[in-house]
Amino acid sequence: MTDRNVTLSTEGKDFNYPILEGSVGPEVFDVRKLYGQTGMFTYDPGFTSTASCQSAITYIDGEKGVLLHRGYPIDQLAENSTFMEVAYLLLHGELPKGSELHDFTYTISRHTMLHEQLATFYRGFRRDAHPMAIMCGVVGALSAFYHDSTDITDPEQRMIASHRLIAKMPTIAAMAYKYSVGQPFLYPDNSLSYTGNFLRMTFGVPAEPYAVNPVVERAMRRIFILHADHEQNASTSTVRLAGSSGANPFACIAAGIACLWGPAHGGANEAALNMLREIGDVKRIPEYIARAKDKDDPFRLMGFGHRVYKNFDPRAKVMKATADEVLKELGKSDPVLDVAKELEQIALSDDYFIEKKLYPNVDFYSGVILNAIGFPTDMFTALFALARTVGWVAQWNEMISDPEQKIGRPRQLYVGQPQRDYVPVDKR
Ligand code: ACO
Repeated sequence: MTDRNVTLSTEGKDFNYPILEGSVGPEVFDVRKLYGQTGMFTYDPGFTSTASCQSAITYIDGEKGVLLHRGYPIDQLAENSTFMEVAYLLLHGELPKGSELHDFTYTISRHTMLHEQLATFYRGFRRDAHPMAIMCGVVGALSAFYHDSTDITDPEQRMIASHRLIAKMPTIAAMAYKYSVGQPFLYPDNSLSYTGNFLRMTFGVPAEPYAVNPVVERAMRRIFILHADHEQNASTSTVRLAGSSGANPFACIAAGIACLWGPAHGGANEAALNMLREIGDVKRIPEYIARAKDKDDPFRLMGFGHRVYKNFDPRAKVMKATADEVLKELGKSDPVLDVAKELEQIALSDDYFIEKKLYPNVDFYSGVILNAIGFPTDMFTALFALARTVGWVAQWNEMISDPEQKIGRPRQLYVGQPQRDYVPVDKR
C-alpha cells in the first residue's frame, strides 16, 4: 500500500481509494469499498482495466514485450530449463535445487498412469470427437476417480491433485489422439522425459520400439514451457472463478480447458495454421491483408494481435526460431512457413498493423512446428491445455491460499425491464 489515494468526486462528495503498489508494473487503486460508500459499481466488460487478484507467479509488460515467470524471462527458461523445472518454479516460487528437482520429477513420473476404468470412458466418445471435447470430459471425470485429492481445504491433497493433473495430462491428451486414429493406447514410460514420454504415447505403437528424436523433444519442451502460464488470461481467470466457489481441482481445470478451446484464445493456433494453409501462396497475401483491414469483413489475421502485448510476443520469437530448427531436422520444407514469414514481414510494415500495434503472437508459428512434427490441427489446442495445466494449478493453489480470496461474483449494469406485473397468456 502507498500513502496516496485516488479521489472520486460525485454529487459534491469526495471518496478516497488507496493506491496499491506491486513489485513492478502498473499500480492499482482499491475499489473494494466503492459500492458500500457510493452505491455504484465499476463497469469494465472484458476486464480491460481490472486487476482481479494479487499474484506473484507471472508478470507481463505488454508494451515492452516482456514475460517473466517468478521473475525469470521466458526466453531464458525456454532455452535452459526442463518443463519439470518450470513446473516446480511456477508451483513453488523458486527454481528447484538438484535434489528438489529429482524428487519432483520422480513424483510426477509416478502419477502418469490413469485409472484403468478411464480407458473405457474414452470409448463413450465418437471417434471423430474433437480432442478438446474429450479433454474437458476426461479431466472433469478425474474427480470421480481420485476422491482422495478433492478436499481443497487440505494443502497436501491440493498438492497431490496438482501433481496428478500435471502428470496425467500428457497421458490424457495422447489417448485422445490415439482414440481418434483408432490405435491402441500406450501406457506411459517413466524412464523418458515428460515430453519424450508424451511423444512416445502419441506417435509410438506397441508393435515397435519408439526412438525419441532429440530435436523434436527439445521443440516440444520449448512449446510446453512457452505455454506454461500467462497471468490472468481468460482460461486462468475461469479456473480461478470456478475454484473460488470451492469446486474441486479437476472440475476447475476442466472449466479452464473449456474456455481455452475458443478461437480467440487457445484455439487460435489451429485457426492460424488453417488460415496459412488457406492463403497457400505468398502471392495471395495482399488479398488477405486487405480483408483483415476491411471493417465490413469479419476476417482477422489469426495469430496476430494480443490483449496485453502491444509489441512482439516474446514467445513468438522463440517459436519462429524453433520452427526453422524443426523443419531443418525433419528435412521438410513447408510452404506454409514461407507464407507465415512473408505475411509477418508484410503485416509488420503495414500502417494498419503498426497503428494498432498488432504483432505475431505465440500461436502464429506454433502450428507450423506442430504440423511438421505430425500433430493433426485439432490436437493443437489440446497440447496448449496440457502445458497450461501447470499454470492453472499454480494459480489455483495461489488463490486458495490467499487470505483475501472470496467467491468471484461480478455485478452488472442492468439494462432490462424494470419490475412489471405478470400478464396471463390470453391477455398478451
Ligand atoms: N487482424 C486484424 N485486425 C485486428 C486483429 C487481427 N488479428 N486483432 C485486432 N485487430 C483490430 C480490431 O479489428 C480492432 O480494430 P478497431 O480498433 O478498428 O475496432 C483493434 O485491432 C483492436 O482489437 P480488439 O479485438 O479490440 O482487441 P482485443 O484486445 O479485444 O483482442 C485478440 C485481442 C482477441 C487476441 C485479437 O487481436 C484477435 O482476435 N486476434 C486473432 C486471434 C488470435 O490470434 N488469438 C490468440 C491470442 S494469444 C492466446 O490466446 C494464446
